[in-house]
Amino acid sequence: MAFLFFIIIFVAKYFCMFSKEIIEQFQNIETPFYYYDTDLLAQTLQAVKSESEKYGFTVHYALKANVNDQILRQIHNFGFGADCVSGNEVKKALEIGFKPDHVVFAGVGKSDKEIMEALQADIFCFNSESVQELEVINELAIKLQKTAKIALRINPNVQADTHKYITTGTSENKFGINLHELDSVIDNFANYSNLKLIGLHFHIGSQILDLNNFKDLALKINEIQDNLEKKGVVLENINVGGGLGIDYKNPDENLISNFKDYFKNFAELLKIRKHQKVHFELGRALVAQCGSLISKVLYLKKGVSKQFLIIDAGMTELIRPALYQAHHHIQNLTSDKIAQNYDVVGPICESSDCFGKEISLNEAQRGDLIAIRSAGAYGEVMTSFYNLRDKAKAIYKNELLN
Ligand code: LLP
Repeated sequence: MAFLFFIIIFVAKYFCMFSKEIIEQFQNIETPFYYYDTDLLAQTLQAVKSESEKYGFTVHYALKANVNDQILRQIHNFGFGADCVSGNEVKKALEIGFKPDHVVFAGVGKSDKEIMEALQADIFCFNSESVQELEVINELAIKLQKTAKIALRINPNVQADTHKYITTGTSENKFGINLHELDSVIDNFANYSNLKLIGLHFHIGSQILDLNNFKDLALKINEIQDNLEKKGVVLENINVGGGLGIDYKNPDENLISNFKDYFKNFAELLKIRKHQKVHFELGRALVAQCGSLISKVLYLKKGVSKQFLIIDAGMTELIRPALYQAHHHIQNLTSDKIAQNYDVVGPICESSDCFGKEISLNEAQRGDLIAIRSAGAYGEVMTSFYNLRDKAKAIYKNELLN
């Protein structure tokens, strides 16, 4: 019995994101700051690597989720490629050391400057989103005497069960070339002297937890490929995008997403042609759980029927709750008193600057440390300087404990 108790304490201590030592170290750091558990990131990347390698899949990390240098270096060291949506992301990926032929460049509104720089860098592929964009890339490639490799981003009209701001694959969205245009784009492709068609690209949305959505995508891709094959067109690359979600409600129970079933779904359902490579562009599922926003309680304030916990982090550091009504798990790291309910709000002059209403937290006092969890993706990178706020620092577990 005593042995079992010891094991439970050991396991809890090992897996708890914030050990006593870490919290002690936090006391000396100016808040708010981002904390990255680099061990968890490594475990997550290892899981992605082993599960994707089973099927020979290629994974590109979607830089938009987090462009922190340390995080990027760690991801690069695992051998993943880079999925970029701006010229600066392409530059950043190359600076970190991603090889140009591991870089893909997507985005519905690429500027001429961005296209030229990517052409000069000889990136692997442009995920192209419209007929006019193809014309522009071709013209610029002629000027630079380059051949641009193209994957057509197709809007597959597949519904994703997620927030309306982050669903991208239905015909109402601005993204991708509509299915009804695909035949004519392919029939006329030979007219683009300096473009080489190497693949198809899809992405149906983000924070998708229902694997049936990905099943629908795989089946839709099969249908599209069957039709193309009838015309004698088989492309070397199929990029299914990203979008795998994470557990925001109970992060500690699911620190690592279900990569096993996610990749298996595509391996089982997608009709992969001979010599065809399947690519993924995952952002959130790689980095979300390793990051937390750490903040300090500034003030407690009683409302008529509620109490507010005013902390020193705001929507300027983490905009997801204000923008998508997103839920992030919140913890008081420095109290073990009986829980009370609080509306946890930031200091920004906007009513939407609220991290959660009626949140149950161990009774708080001024100076307590608050952790807002699952903030590694679309957190630090969406920082704004509204109210002339300082940029929150980033702290890494591997540096903190050394
Ligand atoms: N590929 C494309 C073409 C994308 O548009 C995205 C995300 C990804 C890959 C990566 O998706 P992920 O694996 O991270 O779901 N700011 C929002 C999320 C926006 C996602 C935009 N596109 C949020 O905080 O929820």
